[in-house]
Amino acid sequence: MRRKLIAGNWKMHKNSETARGFATEFLKLYQVTPDMDVCIAAPFTELLALEEMFAGTDLLTAAQNMHFEDQGAFTGEISAPMLAEIGVDYVIIGHSERRAYFAETDEMVNKKVKKAFEWNITPIICCGETLPQRQQSLEDHIVRHQVVMALAGLTDEQVAKAVIAYEPVWAIGTGHVATPQQAEDMCKVIRDVIRMYHGDAADEVKILYGGSVKPDNAKELMEMEDIDGALVGGASLDPVDFLKIIHAAEN
Ligand code: PGA
Repeated sequence: MRRKLIAGNWKMHKNSETARGFATEFLKLYQVTPDMDVCIAAPFTELLALEEMFAGTDLLTAAQNMHFEDQGAFTGEISAPMLAEIGVDYVIIGHSERRAYFAETDEMVNKKVKKAFEWNITPIICCGETLPQRQQSLEDHIVRHQVVMALAGLTDEQVAKAVIAYEPVWAIGTGHVATPQQAEDMCKVIRDVIRMYHGDAADEVKILYGGSVKPDNAKELMEMEDIDGALVGGASLDPVDFLKIIHAAEN
């Protein structure tokens, strides 16, 4: 049985006051989830505060990006050892917003994934097709390619520990959630291609769905066989909505 993972992605939202406010309210309502991991990908500036506030709970933290070198003259970047030092558990890699606005390539994604494993940070590797690509029925091809490139050179043991997030670009922040069947079909495509390259690691790798996940659609998505959790953007900004999604995944 794969453990579920619900990951919030705050993107470039919240400051020190509102991040702490979220954590205070969330911690009042949150109960330990024995069969599930929960993490929040906060802006770099709020990660340490969340680490401190989540201490003594089973809640985990994630970064939204990192560089693929340990250190150096890379103005504005944050490295894996910097994240590891403050105890960050996960890092989102290759989100479609980074690919689209910051020119992240499959090669960079692969380097970052390898670097994350070197520092014991679990990568949440994002993949997904755009609307024009889906309209041309290219989604399987695009997503397979992104996944194979991201995992190139990893051991089967590493792949088994990785997290993949299938996030169709047309569903992100649009309210146009994929149907449970569309999401399941692509998560199955991902698991099948991982099986071709990494054998039984395909049974262990977690595959999340992301893109307009909300309290009212989470349950039917999370019930699908190959969907092991969710990457939640907008709805993770509100503690009550985020908790409702966690509960939907639990049942
Ligand atoms: P959304 O974002 O839930 O706001 O669509 C998801 C994501 O980009 O990870």
